[in-house]
Amino acid sequence: MRLDYTNMMAASLGECGLKEVNYSRNAFDKVISTLGTGWQEWANLISDGEIDEITQFCRPICEKAESVVVLGIGGSALGAIAVANALTHFRHNELPREKRNAPKFYVEDNVDPERMAALLDVVDVSNTYFIVATKSGETSETLSQFLIIYDALSSKLGDKAKEHIIAITTLGKGKLYEIAVSEGFKLFGIGKGVGGRFSVFSPIGLVPLACIGIDIKGLVSGAAKAAQISQNPDINANIALMMAALNVEAYKKGCNMSVMMPYADSLKFMSDFFAQLWGESLGKKQDLCGNTVHVGQTPVKALGVTDQHSQIQLYTEGPFDKVVTFLTVTNFRNYCVIPNDKRIDGLEFLKGHTLNELINAEQAATAFALKKAGRMNMTLCLDAVTAESVGELIMTLMYQTAFAGAMLNIDTYNQPGVEEGKKATFAIMGRIGYEQKLQEMTAQSGEYKIERE
Ligand code: PA5
Repeated sequence: MRLDYTNMMAASLGECGLKEVNYSRNAFDKVISTLGTGWQEWANLISDGEIDEITQFCRPICEKAESVVVLGIGGSALGAIAVANALTHFRHNELPREKRNAPKFYVEDNVDPERMAALLDVVDVSNTYFIVATKSGETSETLSQFLIIYDALSSKLGDKAKEHIIAITTLGKGKLYEIAVSEGFKLFGIGKGVGGRFSVFSPIGLVPLACIGIDIKGLVSGAAKAAQISQNPDINANIALMMAALNVEAYKKGCNMSVMMPYADSLKFMSDFFAQLWGESLGKKQDLCGNTVHVGQTPVKALGVTDQHSQIQLYTEGPFDKVVTFLTVTNFRNYCVIPNDKRIDGLEFLKGHTLNELINAEQAATAFALKKAGRMNMTLCLDAVTAESVGELIMTLMYQTAFAGAMLNIDTYNQPGVEEGKKATFAIMGRIGYEQKLQEMTAQSGEYKIERE
């Protein structure tokens, strides 16, 4: 991976750029000295033995099942979505089984009733494995999906239904753990100090990915490589630290949005992964000293080249409030030549070139247009999209987030805003123990409603 941050700096952008990259060594030390402990348990990578155990369990599913469905949301879904999208065929579910060499794959990260009905229309539950993933074991969305699926499975398979459920949650804690033990589901554990958005290299991400034949060993070895690089105190040799410092410095200069814009469809969902990681980790009301600070850059998802024809106008000429990180790929897995069709005149500038050249030319052109307009941007380039490079990219983003949180002096690992919504949902749905929350909500309910027949 290479990072080009020329277009962040005053030498290139003039007064809109950064004169130098400042970062507090203290923030770096704070992250590094507590790695692997508390909520930084995500930095302890899974062992080879555990990877082998996951692979052995998932292999027969990968070889035989028609479909694998993940029931999970937020950090219990986005890692698997981002990696599967990067490393499977673009039309994975549409390929015939013999070409796919793996089950069809669905990640159900919403509770839209139409979506659930549609899923049940297309999967044969009797040949499908359902991975119920929830770190807390308490999330309403995931538990309601589980109840619907377990019911559908039981009416078709009777007692054998339980063989089709794989539960992944914190061991010894939470509702899903209780259910899994009492029903006898296959159970994988996730470390107590591994938060949802940092859980992709735990069974939460690795079990679903192994079930569809992804090289999870390669993924984790890429993550290990990024971890090693990210622990280097020399900022010029540490991409995660440099990107954290650049974003935080840009934020101080008024760039309160951080756009991630991959120029590769395979990396499209890295933006979704990043949006959750960055938004939930850094968007905080209080700093660690108890001051009210309301900090955090808003993550924005974009895709090159598609969004050149949608959002780039705003990025170029709208408010000076964004920093753009492009993700590029040097060697695509396919090579597509634009034919030199003699019947068509006037398109010589395209003919004989490749889409590979075109997409990277468009990225360079967009970076130039932004730079010319004085808009900060940087480019993180992957040689190719492989299990190793995807693992490296994701781990780099995780370290980047940890460093940025320390630089902002906030608690990177809590999410009180999310928890408040979860509790309010329990209250509305009538969960015992949440009566007071319901009273609080009723007392505060607004009167400003417009209803239409
Ligand atoms: O990152 C987080 O902690 C959250 O986004 C969670 O992943 C999300 O709320 C789902 O929680 P859980 O995995 O406990 O069901």
